[in-house]
Amino acid sequence: MRNDANPELLQSTLATHRHRGIGFVPTMGFLHEGHLSLIRTAKATGQFTVVSVFVNPAQFGPNEDLESYPREPERDYELSRQAGADLVWFPSVADLYAPGSETSVLPGNLSKKLCGLSRPNFFPGICTVVLKLFNLIRPDQAFFGEKDYQQLTIIRQMVCDFYLPTQVIGCPTVREEDGLAMSSRNAYLRPEDRPLALALFRTIERARALFAGGTRDAKVLQEDLKSFWPEGIELDYLELRHPTTLDEETHLSGESRLFLGAWLRGIRLIDNAALAP
Ligand code: PAJ
Repeated sequence: MRNDANPELLQSTLATHRHRGIGFVPTMGFLHEGHLSLIRTAKATGQFTVVSVFVNPAQFGPNEDLESYPREPERDYELSRQAGADLVWFPSVADLYAPGSETSVLPGNLSKKLCGLSRPNFFPGICTVVLKLFNLIRPDQAFFGEKDYQQLTIIRQMVCDFYLPTQVIGCPTVREEDGLAMSSRNAYLRPEDRPLALALFRTIERARALFAGGTRDAKVLQEDLKSFWPEGIELDYLELRHPTTLDEETHLSGESRLFLGAWLRGIRLIDNAALAP
C-alpha cells in the first residue's frame, strides 16, 4: 500500500505486521537498481518490507542541490512495489521535522573525514533523519548500500552507540554496465560527461590491478592513482582507508578500501571498493 500518512497512522499500520519482523529501506527516491536491490534483499528475508522516500533537507548544504534533487514519487511507488515493498512511506518535512523540533544527532570522528570534510552538514543530517525513521518504524533490520560506505559505517556506529535494536545490513554496490556506480544524481550527467564520470571506476580498477600485482604501500598506490586522474573532473579525495575505522592505511590488505569523491560540473560523484573483491 502507498502511505502518505502521518507518523501515528504509519505506526498503527505497522503494528498489525510487526509479528512478521520489519525490514526497512530508507531512500531519498528517484529509485534505480541500487535501491531496488536493497528492497529485494529486504523482501527475501520474509519480513514486512517498508521503504521510505524522503529528500532530507538536513543533509544538504546551503549551496547544494536540495531544490533540484530529482523527484518522481509515482514512479518510486511503482518500482518499490514491483521490487517487493509492502509499504512505501512518503513522509512530509513536517512529519519528520515537526514545528519546534530542534534536536539533532552529532556523529563523531567517522563523520569528519572523506565526504564529511567538504560537506559538514551531511552526516549529522543523515544520522538525525535515520534515527527519527528508526524510532518511528522500529525495524528489525535496515538495509543500506555499500555505495555510500561512509554512511553505512556511521549508521552502524550510531546503532551501537545508542543501543538501537535494529540490525544494519550492508548490501553491495550496483553498477551500470560500464562500471559507473548507480546514483540518483547520475540523472544530472549528460552523455558527454560519461567518460569523465567513469574516472572513479577506472581508478578502482587500476587500484585493484596494482594491488593484485603486489603493491602494498598505500602512499605509492595513492600517488600512482592520482597521477592518472584525468583533467576535467575535480578530485575531492582519493584515499586508502581501513574498512571499519576509516583511518588511513599505510600497509594495504585486501580489505583496505579505496574511497573516491569528485565533482563533475558541480555534480557530486562518489565510489569506493575493497582492493581485493
Ligand atoms: P539515497 O541516496 O536515496 O540511497 C538510499 C540507499 O540506497 C542507501 O543505503 C544507499 O547506499 C543505497 N544505494 C544508492 N546507490 C546504490 C547503488 N548503486 N548500489 C547499492 N546501493 C545503493 O542514502 C540516502 O539516500 C540517504 O542518505 C538516506 C540514508 C535515505 C537518509 O536520508
